Amino acid sequence: TKMFTYDPGFTSTASCESSITFIDGDEGVLLHRGYPIEQLAEHGDFLEVCYLLLYGELPTAAQKKDFDYRVVHHTMVHEQMSRFFTGFRRDAHPMAVMCGCVGALSAFYHDSTDITDPHQRMVASLRMIAKMPTLAAMAYKYHIGQPFVYPKNDLDYASNFLRMCFAVPCEEYVVNPVLARAMDRIFILHADHEQNASTSTVRLAGSSGANPFACIAAGIACLWGPAHGGANEAALNMLTEIGTVDRIPEYIARAKDKNDPFRLMGFGHRVYKNYDPRAKIMQKTAHEVLGELGIKDDPLLDIAIELERIALTDDYFIEKKLYPNVDFYSGITLKALGFPTTMFTVLFALARTVGWIAQWNEMIEDPDQRIGRPRQLYTGAPLREYVPLSKR
Ligand code: CMC
Repeated sequence: TKMFTYDPGFTSTASCESSITFIDGDEGVLLHRGYPIEQLAEHGDFLEVCYLLLYGELPTAAQKKDFDYRVVHHTMVHEQMSRFFTGFRRDAHPMAVMCGCVGALSAFYHDSTDITDPHQRMVASLRMIAKMPTLAAMAYKYHIGQPFVYPKNDLDYASNFLRMCFAVPCEEYVVNPVLARAMDRIFILHADHEQNASTSTVRLAGSSGANPFACIAAGIACLWGPAHGGANEAALNMLTEIGTVDRIPEYIARAKDKNDPFRLMGFGHRVYKNYDPRAKIMQKTAHEVLGELGIKDDPLLDIAIELERIALTDDYFIEKKLYPNVDFYSGITLKALGFPTTMFTVLFALARTVGWIAQWNEMIEDPDQRIGRPRQLYTGAPLREYVPLSKR
């Protein structure tokens, strides 16, 4: 029989060729189309990064204007979509709602599901990037029992999203530009990360020819897990549970204990064996947001900083090269912005949608593309005769 390479967790299998994102995990480097994440986060805006990921180059001013306009054109969702939301139990986790509602988009936008047509693929991509904030905000509003807020297209992407989340019909809502900039930066930091579990899921789903909306729904399902996108929610829950700085050693000891399944959430990464460059920017963003909101001492931030300090000087963490990842500081920032922990992974999904869709497009355009079909090493019973029920 033919033998296959056994590679659980795909730690040494390249599943594709890609020109979108480069990571050097040992050096802590992350580049999108060659541009360092630090520069994109500092100088760019999220839609510019979306353009870069989709088209491979930074847009000119005219291209940017046109792209922004095209995205804005698609921010509304079909009115009937609202019934999908209200069909869920009130206490449903917003990620459960997102899995269902994003999958449902395929039923509404048949006119952009012919994946052989590059124009339809781009329309589907823009639709997805434009509608995710609307859907995410709807999931939030339903979650807290407030009326849905329609998009306002003269606002930038992040401001529009914050308004859809936090405006109420009875009051004027003014977007705070510092907070909008922080939100935008959080989106940039999560936009793409090469062949992570959810992106590989999107590619695998797409390799069968499934429509892009269904593929993104598959990515959302994968992202939900606490080892992946769910880590931002888990990290903040952990900081809350630790509660006070003096209890940190107890949790460090638990993380090191082989017999305890507990892990420090927001620590460690399959690829980064150095400080996650996104975590540094996220930490800075956390300080900016807390500063703007006049939050002098956030006990959770104090715990996070002290936890990081202890972990980075501890032999266990040094030896295993465990550093804070993007999710370690994002929760503190998102909480300060006003989001409940249950929304954190939804925000990750919103931002990662562009990465998923860019990778999906790249795959469809790849002449070597075939259906993804891993093999296995069979370890079950050898051939045997069926035994009738009466004889067992
Ligand atoms: N706390 C304590 N020990 C850890 C941790 C942690 N957070 N992460 C890894 N280790 C240990 C692990 O026990 C193992 O030890 P040993 O070799 O003695 O068995 C060793 O380090 C290697 O871990 P692994 O699970 O084999 O590594 P992996 O590449 O399969 O997993 C990971 C990577 C991110 C799933 C893992 O580090 C983890 O569970 N971290 C916590 C969850 C988290 O923060 N996830 C967010 C990832 S970044 C955002 C994203 O892209 O989704």
